[in-house]
Amino acid sequence: MKGVILAGGTGSRLRPITHTGPKQLVPIANKPVLEYALDDLKEAGITEVGIILGNKGRDEIQAYFGDGSDFGVDITYIVQGEPLGLAHAVGCARDFVGDDSFVVYLGDDLMREGITDLIKDFTSDEYAAGIGLQEVEEPSRYGIVDVNDTGDVIELVEKPEDPPNNLALIGVYVFTPAIFQQIEALEKSWRDEYEITEAIQGLLDDGNRIQSHVVHGWWKDTGKPEDVLHANRLVLDDIEPNVRGTIENDETVRGRVQLGEGSVIEENAVVRGPVSIGEDTVIKSGTYLGPYTSIGDSCIIDGVHIESSVVVGDSEISADRTIVDSLIGRQATITANHDKKPDGERLIVGQNSSLEL
Ligand code: G1P
Repeated sequence: MKGVILAGGTGSRLRPITHTGPKQLVPIANKPVLEYALDDLKEAGITEVGIILGNKGRDEIQAYFGDGSDFGVDITYIVQGEPLGLAHAVGCARDFVGDDSFVVYLGDDLMREGITDLIKDFTSDEYAAGIGLQEVEEPSRYGIVDVNDTGDVIELVEKPEDPPNNLALIGVYVFTPAIFQQIEALEKSWRDEYEITEAIQGLLDDGNRIQSHVVHGWWKDTGKPEDVLHANRLVLDDIEPNVRGTIENDETVRGRVQLGEGSVIEENAVVRGPVSIGEDTVIKSGTYLGPYTSIGDSCIIDGVHIESSVVVGDSEISADRTIVDSLIGRQATITANHDKKPDGERLIVGQNSSLEL
């Protein structure tokens, strides 16, 4: 079985972070979102992976993953061009998947327990598709699915005004090639997209059975900055300590900490895990870091108090201030303005920004 990761979205809800870099490479605990999807497919035994790319961020994604050999998979890139919806993206994979069943995984999704069970459960001789579901709090934001007692799907609706329940499509699907005919017959939805939810409803309407699988363990769609921060907290909750850099003083570092090669936590810096720090980053004396914070590669963090935040990388933050629940893009500079009284700042800072606080 092959895997198809949809990575064509523009990341408009993550602006300004995505003005200059693709949302699929936004790091969660120092690993790009898209790599989590790749790891889940690999864990489920799927090593032939097609990545559907839009026009935006195409080169960066290809540069990062290459032919997949560094990640233990074989990657084929398929260009969708303009994002016309999930069904359009799946349609682009037709030649790549051929005549077999295949898995589709939304590239901005994160799942604690992976997709192995969902794929194992799927029985292609009885069902035309299998879908992953989970209960959500705001069902009108998602594709919502009604199922019967045995888990067979009765109906699917995309972003319903009046949801029949709160079981949402989480963005993992197993399809037989029958889906392609349905995709061809689609018309654009009210939001001007070809909806995969409607293509699956089409399979049902033609008398096919659709299997559902409720996924346990957390699931997170990283569409918005607060979702990235939440996903970062969820992933950090499970990290194992791994120190490859230098901790100058063990007394000031507590909890689970990952520290990449070439990075230093200086003598009087306080770090409270869970925290993930990339490579070649310096946490200077006088800094207070964590908990639930990820700092990317090649940063200098000097004298600031940072909690529950993600600093993407290549940034210098030297304000003697408290930064909480913040997402800070690449190459940001945040310095102090000593004329102001210190209190907490909440920041969403894009790549190449320069801030004076
Ligand atoms: C898409 C799907 C929706 C699904 C959601 C999961 O929504 O259309 O059915 O529930 O992903 O994240 P979108 O992110 O395009 O709003």
